[in-house]
Amino acid sequence: MITGKTSIFGIMGDPVEHSLSPPMHNTTFSKLAIDSVYVPFHVKKGYLQSAMVGARSMGIKGLNVTIPHKTAVIEYLDSLDTAAKLIGAVNTVKFDENEVKGYNTDGLGAVKAIEEVTTVKNKKVVILGAGGAARAISFQILLEGAESLVIANRTFEKAIELKEDLAGKLDVNVKTVTLGFDLENELKNADILINTTPIGMYPNVNQKPLVTADMMHGGLVVNDVVYNPLETGLLKEARKAGAQTISGTKMLIYQGVEAFRIWTGIEPPVDIFEMALMNELRP
Ligand SMILES: NC(=O)c1ccc[n+]([C@@H]2O[C@H](COP(=O)([O-])OP(=O)(O)OC[C@H]3O[C@@H](n4cnc5c(N)ncnc54)[C@H](OP(=O)(O)O)[C@@H]3O)[C@@H](O)[C@H]2O)c1
Repeated sequence: MITGKTSIFGIMGDPVEHSLSPPMHNTTFSKLAIDSVYVPFHVKKGYLQSAMVGARSMGIKGLNVTIPHKTAVIEYLDSLDTAAKLIGAVNTVKFDENEVKGYNTDGLGAVKAIEEVTTVKNKKVVILGAGGAARAISFQILLEGAESLVIANRTFEKAIELKEDLAGKLDVNVKTVTLGFDLENELKNADILINTTPIGMYPNVNQKPLVTADMMHGGLVVNDVVYNPLETGLLKEARKAGAQTISGTKMLIYQGVEAFRIWTGIEPPVDIFEMALMNELRP
């Protein structure tokens, strides 16, 4: 029951009605008997400043931030953690008495997902895409000590932009390739492949993946950040090649788990988040 003592958390974005974060956080609050609630806030462009001032003055304890506010929200924060500062985007805000701090748990979510099956340290990682998700994951993967990163993107200039940003901020080994032959070559000795493009996402489930089974090897770990469907075309190809697969649900779960930990100081059981998410995604 919501009482005068209940702490308020939430997510702000536009759109926000399809967010899967409310069921994950609310189920966890309820199972752990924590007197808190997590609410969706539909905040349109132009209302971000008033939303942040309002959240602070109404005693909201924490917010997730999604499209289109992940970068713009930085202006209304007092400080940023290392990853958020490097990435230049925030998906989690913690409101303390004297400080409003921004974090980015997207990249960490992907790393934790991958670390369910393998370590990232000293590995060669190939990433497909150079957009927002690729950016967060690339910085985090390199912060975690990946040996090298290859960025493959349809618009080559965007891959170069991301590479230059990474190389300008971190002492790292980053390469860019176009889709096709060069990508195929890089995959021969890669350890981890991460797709951050929306290819294969519902309703385009039959869209041909950028990488097919013949371009993979059995020692590869393949993570698709697309979570609907649970097994994308890319993951089907990976399974055919004998590679290990990680569904996009894992990144979604772990970015939420990390936000929960930042807000409450409690390491929540991952299986509660997983169960709550699967209840929403399974037909
Ligand atoms: N599991 C999770 O927790 C999680 C978290 C965040 C995002 N996601 C998913 O990740 C995906 C990307 O999100 P984002 O925010 O990074 O998007 P974004 O910033 O728009 O970037 C999309 C990237 O995909 C590439 N791309 C799009 N369509 C393509 C196509 N037909 N062929 C080749 N490349 C294509 C784009 O290439 P160009 O540069 O050439 O346009 C760009 O690099 C979405 O499906 C989103 O739902 C999942």
